[in-house]
Amino acid sequence: MSPLTTDGQRLVVVTGGASGIGAAAAAELAAAGAAVVVADIDAEAAKTLAGQIGATAHRVDVRRRDSVEALFASLPRAPDALLTSAGGAARAAALDVDETLFLETFQLNTGGFWRCAQTAAKRAIAEKQPLAIVHVASSLHAGPAPGLSHFAAAKGASVSLLRCLAQEWAEHRIRVNAIVPGPVETPATRSWDTDPGLRKAIESQLPLGRTGRVSDLTPAILWLLDEASEWVTGSLVTVDGGRSVAP
Ligand SMILES: NC(=O)c1ccc[n+]([C@@H]2O[C@H](COP(=O)([O-])OP(=O)(O)OC[C@H]3O[C@@H](n4cnc5c(N)ncnc54)[C@H](O)[C@@H]3O)[C@@H](O)[C@H]2O)c1
Repeated sequence: MSPLTTDGQRLVVVTGGASGIGAAAAAELAAAGAAVVVADIDAEAAKTLAGQIGATAHRVDVRRRDSVEALFASLPRAPDALLTSAGGAARAAALDVDETLFLETFQLNTGGFWRCAQTAAKRAIAEKQPLAIVHVASSLHAGPAPGLSHFAAAKGASVSLLRCLAQEWAEHRIRVNAIVPGPVETPATRSWDTDPGLRKAIESQLPLGRTGRVSDLTPAILWLLDEASEWVTGSLVTVDGGRSVAP
């Protein structure tokens, strides 16, 4: 893959960058010549990956404002791009979702995106620099999502939010887009292997016949983070094995 820009090294922050989709994107970004900050709550995993791909590691908890502000304050300048991949949720039937699970799911998936996007945007505006933000949403964002209603709602809210942010921040040359993955094999989805019924149900919803690989997502993520997509904002790029058009 060619360098992301022709006019110097891009500074890219990847939250949730130590594992799964974020880690795959971080590795591709570093290989493409970007200066990558692998930002994750798992400091050890972030450090290990950063060492392997020639990136910088930073521990962050995207649920906390002070932690997110410390991440962006630690950068030498405003980032050129931000990928918000930190997210996820435990499965629970809708009748069993309690106050804690519901609120924590929003705090991580919606709040984490909001906090990071807003903090990065403030710095980019202060430094009069363009910024490309890409959020990792989910094909479940519009439901139905058996066992993940709370997660679907949180991702749905993040999709609403990103469209609003895209509109408000366009004048500052800040673009906000989302990648919308279907079910992708990552450490977060290992439970599929212990529940054959769940795996079968997931696969039956995929017209293209298989679950996703992180490599299915990275080209679209890199394009949205790159200046090549400079005329794209407020968009959802769906990479889901056809889940959204399943009969
Ligand atoms: N894998 C899928 O099938 C799938 C489908 C749709 C959407 N997604 C979304 O993609 C994103 C990445 O998922 P994944 O499958 O790669 O999961 P993953 O568990 O492999 O990676 C998530 C990373 O986020 C980090 N993280 C968790 N909480 C954090 C916090 N509070 N602060 C900072 N970092 C934190 C974890 O340590 C981990 O490294 C998530 O937002 C997830 O909801 C995944």
